[in-house]
Amino acid sequence: MIIIETIKNRKSCRTYSDRVIEPEKLAELKQFLASNTKTPFGSKVRFQLIDFNEIKTRELKKNLTTYGVIKGARLFIAGTVEKQPKAMEDYGYCMERNVLKATSMGLGTCWLGGTFKRSGFAGKISINEGEILPAISPVGYPRDIRSIVDRIFRYVAASDKRKPWNELFYLNDTDNFLDDRNFGRFNVPLECARLAPSASNKQSWRIYPTPKESGHVKPTGTVLTNA
Ligand SMILES: Cc1cc2nc3c(=O)[nH]c(=O)nc-3n(C[C@H](O)[C@H](O)[C@H](O)COP(=O)(O)O)c2cc1C
Repeated sequence: MIIIETIKNRKSCRTYSDRVIEPEKLAELKQFLASNTKTPFGSKVRFQLIDFNEIKTRELKKNLTTYGVIKGARLFIAGTVEKQPKAMEDYGYCMERNVLKATSMGLGTCWLGGTFKRSGFAGKISINEGEILPAISPVGYPRDIRSIVDRIFRYVAASDKRKPWNELFYLNDTDNFLDDRNFGRFNVPLECARLAPSASNKQSWRIYPTPKESGHVKPTGTVLTNA
Protein backbone atom coordinates (compact mmCIF):
# COMPACT_ATOMS: atom_id res chain seq x y z
CA MET A 1 0.00 0.00 0.00
CA ILE A 2 1.50 3.33 -0.94
CA ILE A 3 1.80 5.93 1.77
CA ILE A 4 -1.06 8.12 0.49
CA GLU A 5 -3.44 5.17 0.57
CA THR A 6 -2.18 4.31 4.06
CA ILE A 7 -2.90 7.88 5.21
CA LYS A 8 -6.39 7.74 3.71
CA ASN A 9 -7.17 4.33 5.25
CA ARG A 10 -5.91 5.03 8.79
CA LYS A 11 -8.47 5.48 11.53
CA SER A 12 -7.92 5.46 15.28
CA CYS A 13 -8.59 2.05 16.82
CA ARG A 14 -9.48 1.68 20.51
CA THR A 15 -10.72 -1.92 20.33
CA TYR A 16 -8.25 -4.76 19.75
CA SER A 17 -8.66 -8.46 19.00
CA ASP A 18 -6.81 -11.36 20.65
CA ARG A 19 -5.01 -12.13 17.42
CA VAL A 20 -1.29 -12.33 18.08
CA ILE A 21 1.00 -10.34 15.80
CA GLU A 22 3.17 -12.71 13.78
CA PRO A 23 6.81 -12.82 15.04
CA GLU A 24 8.27 -11.57 11.72
CA LYS A 25 5.82 -8.67 11.68
CA LEU A 26 6.62 -7.82 15.27
CA ALA A 27 10.34 -7.92 14.55
CA GLU A 28 9.84 -5.61 11.57
CA LEU A 29 7.86 -3.16 13.69
CA LYS A 30 10.45 -3.21 16.48
CA GLN A 31 13.20 -2.63 13.97
CA PHE A 32 11.28 0.31 12.51
CA LEU A 33 10.75 1.87 15.94
CA ALA A 34 14.42 1.56 16.79
CA SER A 35 15.51 3.16 13.52
CA ASN A 36 12.94 5.96 13.55
CA THR A 37 15.18 8.67 15.02
CA LYS A 38 15.59 11.20 12.20
CA THR A 39 13.66 14.33 13.16
CA PRO A 40 12.94 17.43 11.03
CA PHE A 41 14.21 19.88 13.70
CA GLY A 42 16.97 17.78 15.21
CA SER A 43 15.43 16.70 18.54
CA LYS A 44 16.51 13.37 19.94
CA VAL A 45 13.68 10.82 20.01
CA ARG A 46 13.53 7.17 20.97
CA PHE A 47 10.70 4.66 20.76
CA GLN A 48 10.04 1.37 22.44
CA LEU A 49 7.41 -1.35 22.25
CA ILE A 50 5.87 -2.21 25.61
CA ASP A 51 4.62 -5.80 25.64
CA PHE A 52 2.07 -6.54 28.37
CA ASN A 53 2.73 -10.27 27.97
CA GLU A 54 6.24 -9.72 29.30
CA ILE A 55 5.04 -7.90 32.39
CA LYS A 56 4.46 -10.42 35.13
CA THR A 57 2.99 -8.61 38.09
CA ARG A 58 -0.55 -7.25 38.11
CA GLU A 59 0.68 -4.30 40.12
CA LEU A 60 2.95 -3.16 37.29
CA LYS A 61 0.20 -3.60 34.71
CA LYS A 62 -2.08 -1.44 36.80
CA ASN A 63 0.32 1.46 36.27
CA LEU A 64 0.03 1.10 32.51
CA THR A 65 -3.58 2.08 32.26
CA THR A 66 -5.56 3.91 29.60
CA TYR A 67 -8.47 4.30 32.03
CA GLY A 68 -10.63 1.88 30.05
CA VAL A 69 -10.38 3.81 26.78
CA ILE A 70 -8.35 1.15 24.99
CA LYS A 71 -9.73 -2.39 25.06
CA GLY A 72 -7.77 -5.58 24.45
CA ALA A 73 -4.40 -4.09 23.46
CA ARG A 74 -1.33 -6.03 24.61
CA LEU A 75 1.25 -3.82 22.94
CA PHE A 76 1.94 -0.10 23.15
CA ILE A 77 4.36 2.16 21.33
CA ALA A 78 5.83 4.65 23.79
CA GLY A 79 8.56 7.15 23.19
CA THR A 80 10.42 10.16 24.50
CA VAL A 81 11.87 13.35 23.12
CA GLU A 82 14.50 15.56 24.67
CA LYS A 83 13.14 18.99 25.62
CA GLN A 84 14.13 21.68 23.13
CA PRO A 85 12.31 24.12 20.82
CA LYS A 86 10.12 22.19 18.35
CA ALA A 87 10.51 18.95 20.33
CA MET A 88 6.77 18.32 20.08
CA GLU A 89 6.77 18.78 16.31
CA ASP A 90 9.67 16.34 16.04
CA TYR A 91 7.96 13.79 18.24
CA GLY A 92 4.71 14.20 16.31
CA TYR A 93 6.46 13.62 12.99
CA CYS A 94 8.21 10.45 14.14
CA MET A 95 5.25 9.06 16.07
CA GLU A 96 3.04 9.48 13.01
CA ARG A 97 5.64 7.58 10.99
CA ASN A 98 5.26 4.73 13.53
CA VAL A 99 1.49 4.92 13.19
CA LEU A 100 1.64 4.80 9.39
CA LYS A 101 4.13 1.92 9.46
CA ALA A 102 1.76 -0.07 11.68
CA THR A 103 -1.22 0.88 9.47
CA SER A 104 0.62 -0.32 6.37
CA MET A 105 1.09 -3.68 8.15
CA GLY A 106 -2.66 -4.01 8.75
CA LEU A 107 -2.42 -3.04 12.42
CA GLY A 108 -4.55 -0.59 14.37
CA THR A 109 -3.24 2.36 16.37
CA CYS A 110 -4.59 5.31 18.34
CA TRP A 111 -2.65 8.36 19.41
CA LEU A 112 -3.10 8.88 23.15
CA GLY A 113 -2.00 12.25 24.44
CA GLY A 114 -4.36 12.38 27.39
CA THR A 115 -6.11 9.15 28.26
CA PHE A 116 -3.20 7.17 29.66
CA LYS A 117 -1.28 7.15 32.92
CA ARG A 118 1.79 9.09 31.88
CA SER A 119 3.86 8.28 34.98
CA GLY A 120 3.29 4.54 34.55
CA PHE A 121 4.42 4.50 30.91
CA ALA A 122 7.27 6.92 31.63
CA GLY A 123 8.52 4.59 34.35
CA LYS A 124 8.30 1.58 32.06
CA ILE A 125 10.53 3.16 29.43
CA SER A 126 12.89 4.64 32.05
CA ILE A 127 12.45 8.28 31.11
CA ASN A 128 15.53 10.39 31.77
CA GLU A 129 15.86 13.90 33.14
CA GLY A 130 15.31 16.31 30.24
CA GLU A 131 13.09 13.92 28.31
CA ILE A 132 9.31 14.08 27.92
CA LEU A 133 6.79 11.46 26.90
CA PRO A 134 4.20 13.37 24.86
CA ALA A 135 1.98 10.53 23.61
CA ILE A 136 1.74 6.77 23.17
CA SER A 137 -0.25 4.41 20.95
CA PRO A 138 -1.61 0.91 21.36
CA VAL A 139 -0.83 -1.35 18.42
CA GLY A 140 -2.46 -4.61 17.37
CA TYR A 141 -5.07 -6.21 15.17
CA PRO A 142 -8.35 -4.31 15.39
CA ARG A 143 -11.45 -6.12 16.59
CA ASP A 144 -14.29 -6.16 14.03
CA ILE A 145 -16.74 -4.41 16.32
CA ARG A 146 -15.76 -1.22 18.12
CA SER A 147 -16.35 -1.03 21.89
CA ILE A 148 -18.98 1.37 23.19
CA VAL A 149 -16.24 3.65 24.58
CA ASP A 150 -14.59 3.70 21.16
CA ARG A 151 -17.86 4.61 19.48
CA ILE A 152 -18.58 7.33 22.03
CA PHE A 153 -15.11 8.83 21.52
CA ARG A 154 -15.58 8.87 17.77
CA TYR A 155 -19.01 10.41 18.10
CA VAL A 156 -17.99 13.09 20.61
CA ALA A 157 -14.87 14.06 18.65
CA ALA A 158 -16.74 13.86 15.31
CA SER A 159 -13.80 11.77 14.19
CA ASP A 160 -15.11 11.16 10.70
CA LYS A 161 -15.48 14.85 9.90
CA ARG A 162 -12.44 16.89 8.94
CA LYS A 163 -12.50 20.65 8.40
CA PRO A 164 -12.87 21.64 4.74
CA TRP A 165 -9.91 22.99 2.78
CA ASN A 166 -11.04 26.59 2.99
CA GLU A 167 -10.77 26.55 6.80
CA LEU A 168 -7.25 25.08 6.89
CA PHE A 169 -5.21 26.36 3.97
CA TYR A 170 -4.79 30.03 3.16
CA LEU A 171 -2.91 32.04 0.60
CA ASN A 172 -1.24 34.84 2.60
CA ASP A 173 -4.12 35.67 4.90
CA THR A 174 -7.43 34.34 6.06
CA ASP A 175 -9.40 36.33 3.47
CA ASN A 176 -7.70 34.43 0.77
CA PHE A 177 -8.30 30.71 1.04
CA LEU A 178 -7.09 27.88 -1.07
CA ASP A 179 -9.39 25.22 -2.32
CA ASP A 180 -8.40 21.78 -3.44
CA ARG A 181 -8.38 22.70 -7.10
CA ASN A 182 -5.89 25.53 -7.13
CA PHE A 183 -2.76 24.24 -5.48
CA GLY A 184 -1.31 22.00 -8.16
CA ARG A 185 1.16 19.42 -6.97
CA PHE A 186 0.59 20.33 -3.33
CA ASN A 187 -3.05 19.22 -3.47
CA VAL A 188 -2.21 15.68 -2.37
CA PRO A 189 0.24 16.50 0.46
CA LEU A 190 -2.17 19.09 1.87
CA GLU A 191 -5.05 16.65 1.67
CA CYS A 192 -2.89 14.13 3.58
CA ALA A 193 -2.25 16.75 6.30
CA ARG A 194 -5.99 17.39 6.46
CA LEU A 195 -6.69 13.67 7.00
CA ALA A 196 -4.01 13.20 9.67
CA PRO A 197 -5.10 12.31 13.21
CA SER A 198 -5.78 15.26 15.46
CA ALA A 199 -6.34 15.55 19.22
CA SER A 200 -10.12 15.57 19.78
CA ASN A 201 -10.24 16.05 16.02
CA LYS A 202 -9.86 19.82 16.59
CA GLN A 203 -7.37 20.32 13.73
CA SER A 204 -5.97 23.32 15.61
CA TRP A 205 -3.42 24.26 12.96
CA ARG A 206 -3.45 26.25 9.71
CA ILE A 207 -1.09 26.34 6.76
CA TYR A 208 -0.25 29.60 5.06
CA PRO A 209 1.91 29.10 1.97
CA THR A 210 4.32 31.95 1.30
CA PRO A 211 4.11 33.48 -2.17
CA LYS A 212 7.40 34.23 -3.89
CA GLU A 213 7.97 37.66 -5.40
CA SER A 214 7.13 36.13 -8.75
CA GLY A 215 3.67 35.33 -7.47
CA HIS A 216 4.25 31.57 -7.44
CA VAL A 217 3.80 29.61 -4.27
CA LYS A 218 6.84 28.35 -2.40
CA PRO A 219 6.90 24.64 -1.60
CA THR A 220 7.28 25.30 2.11
CA GLY A 221 4.67 27.07 4.14
CA THR A 222 4.17 28.28 7.64
CA VAL A 223 2.35 25.96 9.96
CA LEU A 224 0.52 27.70 12.74
CA THR A 225 -0.58 25.45 15.56
CA ASN A 226 -3.33 26.16 18.08
CA ALA A 227 -5.02 28.39 15.53
C1 LIG B 1 -1.89 14.40 19.54
C2 LIG B 1 -3.12 13.51 19.63
C3 LIG B 1 -3.60 13.16 20.88
C4 LIG B 1 -4.71 12.30 20.98
N1 LIG B 1 -5.10 11.90 22.23
C5 LIG B 1 -6.11 11.02 22.35
C6 LIG B 1 -6.47 10.52 23.64
O1 LIG B 1 -5.89 10.89 24.66
N2 LIG B 1 -7.45 9.59 23.72
C7 LIG B 1 -8.11 9.14 22.60
O2 LIG B 1 -8.98 8.29 22.74
N3 LIG B 1 -7.80 9.61 21.35
C8 LIG B 1 -6.82 10.52 21.20
N4 LIG B 1 -6.46 10.97 19.95
C9 LIG B 1 -7.14 10.45 18.75
C10 LIG B 1 -8.11 11.48 18.15
O3 LIG B 1 -9.29 11.54 18.93
C11 LIG B 1 -8.43 11.09 16.69
O4 LIG B 1 -7.24 11.18 15.93
C12 LIG B 1 -9.49 12.01 16.07
O5 LIG B 1 -10.73 11.86 16.73
C13 LIG B 1 -9.69 11.71 14.59
O6 LIG B 1 -10.07 10.37 14.40
P1 LIG B 1 -9.23 9.41 13.47
O7 LIG B 1 -7.83 9.32 14.06
O8 LIG B 1 -9.95 8.09 13.49
O9 LIG B 1 -9.17 10.00 12.09
C14 LIG B 1 -5.38 11.84 19.82
C15 LIG B 1 -4.89 12.22 18.56
C16 LIG B 1 -3.77 13.05 18.47
C17 LIG B 1 -3.24 13.42 17.11
